[in-house]
Amino acid sequence: MAADLRTRLGHVELPNPILTASGCAAAGRELAQFFDISRIGAIVTKSVMLAPRSGRPTPRMAETPSGMLNSIGLQGPGIDAFLQRDLPWLLSRGARAVVSIAGGTVAEYAELATRLSDAAGVTAIEVNISCPNVEHRGQVFACDPAAAAEVLEAVRSRARYDIPVFAKLSPDVTDIVAVAKACVSAGADGLSLINTLLGMVIDTDTMRPVLAGETGGLSGPAIRPVAVRCIWQVRAALPGVPIIGMGGVRTGRDAFEMILAGASMVSVGTVIFHDPSACVRILRELDEELSQRGIERLADVVGLAHEPRTAPRRGLAGTAAARRMP
Ligand SMILES: Cc1cc2nc3c(=O)[nH]c(=O)nc-3n(C[C@H](O)[C@H](O)[C@H](O)COP(=O)(O)O)c2cc1C
Repeated sequence: MAADLRTRLGHVELPNPILTASGCAAAGRELAQFFDISRIGAIVTKSVMLAPRSGRPTPRMAETPSGMLNSIGLQGPGIDAFLQRDLPWLLSRGARAVVSIAGGTVAEYAELATRLSDAAGVTAIEVNISCPNVEHRGQVFACDPAAAAEVLEAVRSRARYDIPVFAKLSPDVTDIVAVAKACVSAGADGLSLINTLLGMVIDTDTMRPVLAGETGGLSGPAIRPVAVRCIWQVRAALPGVPIIGMGGVRTGRDAFEMILAGASMVSVGTVIFHDPSACVRILRELDEELSQRGIERLADVVGLAHEPRTAPRRGLAGTAAARRMP
């Protein structure tokens, strides 16, 4: 590696900013056939719930222009199996584990945070709040700043002090900054932006929705500009809060765009289904993007796009980032 790619996940240092996106690499086992999973910043696991779940009925995937629609639901083995099987395996591989959690009630999220804090080796918790609140007419936590804050407050107060807690936000809101601020005020150490957008595909032959669950989450390149916009807005409002950016990243240049918008880490999701080695390729490409521009440290360009335009933008010349360099 030519550039210094070290970054911070809250107070935890990662060797580089490339992570998997939750739900796109299970608990990392499948990827380990393709590359050494300790080489990337961290594995973000599929959202785990308290009890095992079988997910939604099939079909639950549909191709869309420049993207994919899924209604997998939160299928998974539950926290007991995760702690017995998946977490020790990740640690045995030398991987850093960011554990994504999901629940239907605030109490469930709190219990998951307690269980993870009792286990050794959790690098961070990512709180997936794009779940229906069963105690409040199924309203999605992430769509209401007060409900989102309640979850984050419960998780932060139960999670061990040395485990950073990130809130993963939904773009399906009018004002993502309001939700971001509520989560940070409630104690979130950072934000993950963005989860999928709610979409739908109708089969014109059967004249019915393609997905058995009717609607699904849209991911892939189609959503990248939405993700960049969300990262930009949240970074502008909360400049000191670390952001994990994601949504349609396929190349090192895509990751670099999110970093310029304000992300200090980038998660890679849908592209993994086409290219299982995408994370290490994107890591190499990002290093090349930085080196070609004479950028020595990733940390110097996080959020750079927010700085006023200066005369010829070649490398970092003329920017505050350049002035910070020795
Ligand atoms: C098949 C699939 C399953 C997903 N499962 C989860 C999940 O369990 N928890 C979560 O927070 N996000 C989940 N996501 C959302 C991704 O983590 C990511 O936020 C989103 O797909 C945007 O990134 P991408 O376009 O690179 O895939 C899932 C996405 C896909 C495509």
